[in-house]
Amino acid sequence: MPITFNEENKIFHLTTPNSSYIIAIMACGIPVHMYYGKKINIFSMPDEKMFEIEGYSFSPQIDMDKYGKFTLDIIPCEYPSTGDGDYRNPAITILQQNGSKIVRLLYAGYKIYDGKPELKGLPATYVEEKSEAQTLELYLYDNVAKVKVTLKYTVFNDYDAIARSTEVYNYGSEKIVLLNAQSACIDMDNKNFNFIHLHGSWARERHIKSVPLNCTAVTIDSKRGVSSHNENPFFALAEKGATENCGEVYGFNLIYSGNFVASADMNYLNSIRAYIGINTYNFQYVLERNESFQTPEAILVYSDCGFGKMSRTFHSLYRNKLCRGQFRDDKRPILLNLWETAKFNINEKVVFDAAKEAKELGIDLIVIDDGWFGSRNSTKGSLGDWNINKEKFPGGFKQLSDRLAEIDIKLGIWIEPEMVSPDSNLIRQHPEWCIHTPDRNISKARGQYVLDFTKQEVRDHLYNEIYDILSSADISYVKWDMNRGLSEVYSDALSPESQGEVSHRYVLGIYELMDRLTSAFPDILFEGCSAGGARFDGGILYYMPQIWVSDCTDAVERMYIQHGTSLVYPSSCMAAHVSDVPNHQLKRVTPFDTRTNIAMAGRFGYELDVLSLTQEEKILVKVAIQRYKLYEDVIHHGDMYRLISPYETDYTAWQFVSDDKSKCVLIYGNTRAVTQMFSTRIKLKGLLNNREYTEINSGRTYSSDMLENFGILIRQDIDYSSEMMIFELE
Ligand code: GLA
Repeated sequence: MPITFNEENKIFHLTTPNSSYIIAIMACGIPVHMYYGKKINIFSMPDEKMFEIEGYSFSPQIDMDKYGKFTLDIIPCEYPSTGDGDYRNPAITILQQNGSKIVRLLYAGYKIYDGKPELKGLPATYVEEKSEAQTLELYLYDNVAKVKVTLKYTVFNDYDAIARSTEVYNYGSEKIVLLNAQSACIDMDNKNFNFIHLHGSWARERHIKSVPLNCTAVTIDSKRGVSSHNENPFFALAEKGATENCGEVYGFNLIYSGNFVASADMNYLNSIRAYIGINTYNFQYVLERNESFQTPEAILVYSDCGFGKMSRTFHSLYRNKLCRGQFRDDKRPILLNLWETAKFNINEKVVFDAAKEAKELGIDLIVIDDGWFGSRNSTKGSLGDWNINKEKFPGGFKQLSDRLAEIDIKLGIWIEPEMVSPDSNLIRQHPEWCIHTPDRNISKARGQYVLDFTKQEVRDHLYNEIYDILSSADISYVKWDMNRGLSEVYSDALSPESQGEVSHRYVLGIYELMDRLTSAFPDILFEGCSAGGARFDGGILYYMPQIWVSDCTDAVERMYIQHGTSLVYPSSCMAAHVSDVPNHQLKRVTPFDTRTNIAMAGRFGYELDVLSLTQEEKILVKVAIQRYKLYEDVIHHGDMYRLISPYETDYTAWQFVSDDKSKCVLIYGNTRAVTQMFSTRIKLKGLLNNREYTEINSGRTYSSDMLENFGILIRQDIDYSSEMMIFELE
């Protein structure tokens, strides 16, 4: 049984294959976090005096007569509340009618059952059979504030992961205002942790950063309405000295695409409080009588073998139990996106000419990016007017897709449903449909406004518009973009006291539209995008199995970005394209095969001018596509090992091993050449013991222990060189 409850000691013990998570209910009814870490088979209750300390820091006792020196300020709380003598950050704060924000949650029961509940309106991990997981619902009450808080925990049989979320229910007769409700919070002893996070900006997303946890709080967040280029809703607590292969690492990831906060704080007793959830910034949620609020889901992953194992757990869980639809398992088309080549100068001839060449090269699908609708010839206008520009596409997408079908190539398109241009028919007809605050200027970003997705009529309108386009022709792929942050956040559809709900309701609104459209068109491959990777998160992955990693297509920068992204997200969801040089964003010139090899570590495609390729480059494209098709299963369904980090060395090496370990793909590339260095050796991982593998480019055969211990020699004396090696079991 993955979840047990010891009635006598009031201990809940949640187990995954290699980890234990233990909660005890104290005599006073407070749920205490006892342990999270390497699996403990039998846990017995230690002396409650472990929670008493001599001396005091002005910390009050909740009831000295009954419970002695027990003070909330020092105990590891399971879901800390507000204002009751625990001076650390709370996980929940509720404004009540009398103005009080104090909450004290006491245990009132539990339920354990097979399977995992859906989170209404929110993306979440799922099971296909009830037997795959067990769920604990822990019921906590505050009988003064009249709230019931349900802490939900799902443990999966096959993953060292726990899915946590929180539901807050108002059972009183008066309304309450939720000011803070974190998805997960955990108090632990500090194991000399470093706080690892994914930091960046546009075209430089998800670079790995590490901050030691001393006596300071470390907080990352987004207030932009999207999960953001700048921080990803992920952090890890890594034991000091943890590497890819050893040390304890705890990963936390929020399945959410909007404002979030994640923080870890060390108190004066060397204990850590870490939490992740919706940002309290500009958040307050009114709960009327009998209403409830469900937080997004947080995924907790424990690894006793470093970052590599943590990432492989996230990867397999997200590949199999977060991504959905036919493209979760099916092969996906190799596409050519015309954005970097054509920009807004797109028309039927440009597409068809490129498609003919693309087909010759082995490409499956051609994507019309921005610029096909309204009078969109720059970023200045037409967003919201989703009618095909008949000057550019005289016969609409139908004529084009029919012509493409004749040459056996599929069509994909770009949309940006959440946006509207000030110069658009949509905003002229419905000025009230964009997010704005009365009597204030509306800030523009990229020349555009954000539509008020809290409004059902806005979502319905977009559903109908996009439905019509997608059913007008044989469209096989959609890139769903979102190119600005939210500002002047306000909705005239909501009352003044509910304005703190707008950012969250916006996210729920996009999830609803994504759900409707992806359900209506199950055969279309949807790809998420937000100026590259501003919304690269598990929330989007629930609806769309791949996301454009970054607007930066430079192979060297991509080594950093894809390496960082892989800390949490699998290669199967990272869209990566071979682009022209000098690179559009960085002007760097990298070899064609390096651009190819680095893109092969993601959902492979092209974003270049196929008509100006040299004969030699055409051959490289053909060979690459054939090779990718042969090994994409290994790359996207196998285990990933990050062998060498570009953050620590001058090169990157990633290895993908098939489930049965019979095949493995090694991709490496250098970020700069180094003179007078001995060749570097890359040591492989995860192979079968005492077997031989042949590297298919060279035809050389090696023993697995040689590959794992002596390694493969690589050279790094040419700038930006790279290689892709394939090893097959003899
Ligand atoms: C965003 C995307 C790009 C491209 C442009 C089009 O920046 O990230 O890939 O689609 O929009 O305007």
